[in-house]
Amino acid sequence: MRGFPALIGRSIFRSSSHDLRSTHPTATVAAAPPLLRRIGSRRGLIIQTLSGPVRIERLSDSDSGIIELKLDRPEAKNAIGKEMLRGLQNAIETIGNDSSANVVVVSSSVPKVFCAGADLKERKLMSASEVQQFVNSLRSTFSSLEALSVPTVAVIEGAALGGGLEMALSCDLRVCGEESTFSLPETGLAIIPGAGGTQRLPRIVGRSAAKELIFTGRRISGKEAVSMGLVNYCVPAGEAHHKALQIARDINQKGPLAIRMAKQAINKGLEVDMPSALDAEEESTLRCAAKQRLLMIETCMS
Ligand code: COA
Repeated sequence: MRGFPALIGRSIFRSSSHDLRSTHPTATVAAAPPLLRRIGSRRGLIIQTLSGPVRIERLSDSDSGIIELKLDRPEAKNAIGKEMLRGLQNAIETIGNDSSANVVVVSSSVPKVFCAGADLKERKLMSASEVQQFVNSLRSTFSSLEALSVPTVAVIEGAALGGGLEMALSCDLRVCGEESTFSLPETGLAIIPGAGGTQRLPRIVGRSAAKELIFTGRRISGKEAVSMGLVNYCVPAGEAHHKALQIARDINQKGPLAIRMAKQAINKGLEVDMPSALDAEEESTLRCAAKQRLLMIETCMS
């Protein structure tokens, strides 16, 4: 046991991380569906989807473990239609199955917009039951995003409206540029933010602020968003991605299982009473401790 204190540092985290990353990124390429391809030598970038409005990029080298999920539907300002929704579902499922993932950065490739919400043009062509089905799918997709075991950071530069804001609310952290605007304008269309917005916004900013934003549909700036706790950081326009990457790198250096267990404990605990919440914390603590014991035994035997 003499070597124990020295093990409780980065080295044990890294070996823990390797343990969890049984699938090396290049192995992912070999096993990947045809939609994925290796794109070669650009620093930090390993693979991405060939086409479609949602791309995944895996960073490499010291950033290995960071995954970027990018929204890329410029002609509709990233509005979420059926194809975009399928892309999001596939991306979330791929990330959920990727044991090499430690942290996800969700951003837009389209300048000055994060996401314009539901595709209102497509919606006009849907029947009432199709609209209902679509909103239900959107809600469950955002729940899957929220349920990813690894932390997610949304990068907002420009507009995050309706479903676009609801997507950002499903992430663990939010970083925005100063010129960003946020709104849930649904009540102006005689509907409600039904893809999790009425539930996640009050949990993040408090019920009173959430009610005002939802009842009025008022657009707020990045500065106001940070002052009410809607985003974690508001940085000069154009710098949000850089800030999010700094946060992602910081998280990526920590013990991967500890980060997952911390997220699980926080999320589970917030939904239940305090005694049950502390049970959830104990469960997460025990899983981390068990992993550390296993690693120490492995280290001592090697
Ligand atoms: N659904 C479908 N198409 C959308 C869209 C949406 N939610 N938001 C934007 N678009 C389309 C526009 O119709 C336009 O298409 P066109 O070139 O065929 O006319 C294109 O995207 C560009 O939009 P435009 O308004 O010209 O861009 P902008 O940079 O001036 O403004 C926004 C961008 C996002 C601020 C603005 O488009 C907007 O407010 N959109 C409405 C968002 C909304 O109300 N969402 C809530 C849904 S509940």
